[in-house]
Amino acid sequence: MMDRYAVIGNPVAHSKSPWIHAEFARATGQRMSYLRIEAPLKGFARTVDAFRASGGRGANVTLPFKREAFAYCASTSVRAGAARAVNTLRLDRDSPWGDNTDGAGLLRDLEANLGVAPRGRRVLLMGAGGAAQGVLEPLAKAGAAAIVVVNRDIAKAQALVARVAGDPGVARLGACGYADLAGESFDMVINATSSGLSDELPPLPAGLFAPQALAYDMMYGRDTPFLAFARDAGVRTADGSGMLVEQAAESFFLWRGVRPATRAVLAALRVG
Ligand code: ATR
Repeated sequence: MMDRYAVIGNPVAHSKSPWIHAEFARATGQRMSYLRIEAPLKGFARTVDAFRASGGRGANVTLPFKREAFAYCASTSVRAGAARAVNTLRLDRDSPWGDNTDGAGLLRDLEANLGVAPRGRRVLLMGAGGAAQGVLEPLAKAGAAAIVVVNRDIAKAQALVARVAGDPGVARLGACGYADLAGESFDMVINATSSGLSDELPPLPAGLFAPQALAYDMMYGRDTPFLAFARDAGVRTADGSGMLVEQAAESFFLWRGVRPATRAVLAALRVG
């Protein structure tokens, strides 16, 4: 039987992960299958248990289960522990082990694909939910001059920042609400809110983007109001396709010990 992997989420019908992992497997000559599994909203653990019992060796976890996946694991990587969220499960050991490849995927997309490293830049991270939680610590360790986390619910942004601040090697961190952004400008603005799902634009002030800024939306396959706002302001934009492919490559490496090339897969994903 081929080694079995899956992406587990709800909803999961739209997920590009099966296609991406099939491409990686083909390119690296790995014999494996990769399914899509929709877990009931109240049935994540039992869905993973069943997949594991049927021979599943690993899984990606997507919305809304990344925090539940962290709780499910007997042990995790350090970076998953920092994020308190897991997007990659290894089920081929005595007990489930979890990692979080989202931050590494985002950084690799910024640095290798887009050529815009956070180092020395002023970064604004929008949102303080699960998506922001997954990437703040790796971003904060990537040498940014400063990172501000903005959220409608300021207490959530403050709590997120408090967990990361004080670690050795992290950027200067701040937390605020949208009204506090007036008069501020940033070299990199990353949208980790779910506002795009409902076609909403967070209340961003004019003048938010510094010259040469990059606007990055972690959502993929959707032209969000945030990306339109950035285009209107005349700055460079990127959606989360590159992050999706890079986090997948990192998961694939954890499972198979082989690092797949990402360029062709990303190019095909952007066209398709
Ligand atoms: P996810 O796991 O996708 O981050 P989540 O944990 O529900 O989902 O968090 C959603 C994030 O998007 C939150 O930061 C939320 O802001 P609040 O905490 O203030 O609610 C943010 N968000 C959702 N819709 C938004 C909108 N229209 N404008 C600004 N922020 C929004």
